[in-house]
Amino acid sequence: MKIIETVEEMRHFIKQAKKEGKSIALVPTMGSLHEGHLTLMRQAKQACDIVVVSIFVNPTQFGPNEDFAKYPRDLTGDSQAAASAGVEVIFHPQAKEMYPAGYASFIEIEGITEKLCGLSRPGHFRGVATVVNKLLNIVQPDKAFFGQKDAQQVLVLQRMVADFNMNVSLEVVPIVREADGLAMSSRNAFLSAEERQAGLILSRSLKVAEELVAQGEYHIEKIRSEVIAKIQTEKLAECDYVEIFNYPALQEISVLQDKALLALAVRIGKTRLIDNTILEVK
Ligand code: PAF
Repeated sequence: MKIIETVEEMRHFIKQAKKEGKSIALVPTMGSLHEGHLTLMRQAKQACDIVVVSIFVNPTQFGPNEDFAKYPRDLTGDSQAAASAGVEVIFHPQAKEMYPAGYASFIEIEGITEKLCGLSRPGHFRGVATVVNKLLNIVQPDKAFFGQKDAQQVLVLQRMVADFNMNVSLEVVPIVREADGLAMSSRNAFLSAEERQAGLILSRSLKVAEELVAQGEYHIEKIRSEVIAKIQTEKLAECDYVEIFNYPALQEISVLQDKALLALAVRIGKTRLIDNTILEVK
């Protein structure tokens, strides 16, 4: 497996692979790879001849008071994990390779970025859309793979690809969970044993909502208040947001019709975890 650090070398590799008629998959990541990422890579491997994994902790998607500096980084462990999933190339640029002196271009997606994580993390999706746009331009993949855990990120990137007529297919892979329900995340590494246990409140509160809907409760405010009440039973948990919007448009609704996204962001100690589920009228 190759580790490529420059845009020029990456482009050269892709040009050669395309000349040989190979299809290309891109799995964009910020590293600290876990089973969720490996699932994306395995699916990418099934879909395309060559899998490129980008590992880049993207500074432009972190706010000034966020965890950019302490975001976990482990290129050695990540390389072993990616190789075991059949990845051909890791693209691992330095920040100055992606944002050289004089860099001045950013992508803004309107509407859907003004709620949920876009509200709690101003500028976050501007950074995500910008870096993913750059990665797609550099790697020119046929398919790019993303996890449904970042449900709003997926919707933002789908909007960008449609609006800019980008020639790539975005593949969305369901949330991968630990056996006890905790959604896999690189940030889980920050949790103490006690906090990790407390983190189960996210998936458990999603279950509460799913059960209410299965029993025929479609009133959004009722479902939302039951989810908040469940989260409040955990003393280490502090809600950032608990929101339900119709899906995929992310508009406000008072009664569930067809599909809705229930999305949570909850602080457990100093760590902010997100999780979500799609509520569906059966
Ligand atoms: O989901 C992530 O890990 C990041 O937001 C992404 C898509 C790699 C962009 O930096």
